[in-house]
Amino acid sequence: MAEEAAEAPPENGSGCDSGTGGLERGVAPIKPQYLTTKEQFHEFLEAKGQEKPCRETELDIRGKLYLAPLTTCGNLPFRRICKRFGADVTCGEMAVCTNLLQGQMSEWALLKRHQCEDVFGVQLEGAFPDTMTKCAELLNRTVEVDFVDINVGCPIDLVYKKGGGCALMNRLAKFQQIVRGMNQVLDVPLTVKIRTGVQERVNLAHRLLPELRDWGVALVTLHGRSREQRYTKLADWQYIEQCVKAASPMPLFGNGDILSFEDANRAMQTGVAGVMIARGALLKPWLFTEIKEQRHWDISSSERLDILRDFTSYGLEHWGSDTQGVEKTRRFLLQWLSFLCRYVPVGLLERLPQRINERPPYYLGRDYLETLMASQKADDWIRISEMLLGPVPPNFTFLPKHKANAYK
Ligand SMILES: Cc1cc2nc3c(=O)[nH]c(=O)nc-3n(C[C@H](O)[C@H](O)[C@H](O)COP(=O)(O)O)c2cc1C
Repeated sequence: MAEEAAEAPPENGSGCDSGTGGLERGVAPIKPQYLTTKEQFHEFLEAKGQEKPCRETELDIRGKLYLAPLTTCGNLPFRRICKRFGADVTCGEMAVCTNLLQGQMSEWALLKRHQCEDVFGVQLEGAFPDTMTKCAELLNRTVEVDFVDINVGCPIDLVYKKGGGCALMNRLAKFQQIVRGMNQVLDVPLTVKIRTGVQERVNLAHRLLPELRDWGVALVTLHGRSREQRYTKLADWQYIEQCVKAASPMPLFGNGDILSFEDANRAMQTGVAGVMIARGALLKPWLFTEIKEQRHWDISSSERLDILRDFTSYGLEHWGSDTQGVEKTRRFLLQWLSFLCRYVPVGLLERLPQRINERPPYYLGRDYLETLMASQKADDWIRISEMLLGPVPPNFTFLPKHKANAYK
């Protein structure tokens, strides 16, 4: 299996993946280009004449562009698209520790890495030191990743009320036990993603960061908003700047509202070690290229359709090309389209750059496809999906999942 993986064309833009399989238990077959288990990854490196990695405690990703973990939307096919456009670091969608420990295959599938993902981590959510540590131990034995991240930014009630996600920012003793416990069993660096705090006017991050550093966390990403705030108001980059000092010498990545190379430049001026990009990548995955090349890219609607076409072909490889795989690919495409429609083409802007929190007035695109792609209606997203995947089944309906795809 690994030999076939090694023979696969190198992924510097257009590699491929396949299969729907899970992890080591052998329940579902792992197809060639997934490098899911440690053994597969080491065989792959050996075939390429590279050494097995030794224990790493530091994560050297300073100055790199980090594609945020994105539940539902940050699936493997989408991450492949972002890698092609220059994302340096990628992370799997948040996986719930208890689901992993129960052996839920759908949860294990979230940990899959594509071979183009050369710096890849997985993100865990949990509330208790024993389950988190057990889970870290299991992952350490079974999956090949460059880092493990704890989601201490998750705002959703279901997680928060159980004491996980953001709630850990107020449960220091438990948080410390989780970090120390996981660190003890992991051979790769442990990172943490946090918010400014829970309530809007009570910043906690600056007090927490020195603790995290002392507990042995390799890197923290700070989303510059509180739980209460969700996506209302802009991320507080002034506060992020203050936190850089509090975290030092531990690297701090900043996160929030980056949609242009100017935004990224401003963010880097705060002294952060790097930036994480979430919705910006969903609106325009070519943002990574724009940042690296310091330019605005007036991408055409047909180029954008080509990106969607590549996504669907990666999706069919990943989820299968049978009816079920096609409909799964369509659902994930539609989730993505609910964000993509917010992109306003550079050539139509009166003032550059577009800002993530500004709702553009209704506009006509420069061609039919550009207008269709700007539509906020689910029916029009479905039409785009039909161009790529054929007609939807009878009685098909679609509702976007994430609140962040709407304007406030
Ligand atoms: C669709 C969607 C899914 C998300 N899923 C996760 C997740 O699984 N884990 C996480 O830490 N953050 C998640 N987030 C939050 C983002 O990683 C990021 O912190 C937030 O969107 C702010 O960054 P932005 O302003 O660049 O969008 C998600 C955000 C969106 C829009």
